[in-house]
Amino acid sequence: MKKVLIAYSSRTGKTETMANYLAEGLRFAACEVEVKKISAIENELDIIGYDAYLFGCPTYHKDMTGGMKQFLFKAELADLTGKLGGAFGSHTHSGESAPMIYDTMQHVFKMDMTDLGALNLTETTVAAEDGLKACQDYGKAMGKKLA
Ligand SMILES: Cc1cc2nc3c(=O)[nH]c(=O)nc-3n(C[C@H](O)[C@H](O)[C@H](O)COP(=O)(O)O)c2cc1C
Repeated sequence: MKKVLIAYSSRTGKTETMANYLAEGLRFAACEVEVKKISAIENELDIIGYDAYLFGCPTYHKDMTGGMKQFLFKAELADLTGKLGGAFGSHTHSGESAPMIYDTMQHVFKMDMTDLGALNLTETTVAAEDGLKACQDYGKAMGKKLA
């Protein structure tokens, strides 16, 4: 069974909801999934050892959070070269965070990124049926690529 780590930050729970829906999609595709807040990840040893990675963060002040920036320095030490990757996040209007994380995973970590791009949803969409479906479909597609 392929193992996937979903690591996320979330202040008011929207990106956390996305993380849980994504996990459902991956589990439909027979993956084993761990969903963790980045605050629970101490160092690169907690990141090493998975077949695929999904990193998620909401947008605040047109940026990812400071915590996510620190987490990405830990992920750098895990050497994720060639691993399957995806990024996600909730926002209200501009949504810079998820595409920035996707960009770092692709160009800095040299990961094999899903061709779906970043899953960048407004919080209104996250709260609706469309959001659930978009997250599950993204998770399922990543699981299919892993299989
Ligand atoms: C102070 C503040 C600043 C924000 N800045 C942005 C922003 O620059 N761009 C954007 O798209 N959303 C912005 N948002 C909206 C959040 O990204 C949105 O509420 C998101 O769903 C929160 O996700 P979370 O529940 O996972 O923390 C901001 C929200 C707050 C409270």
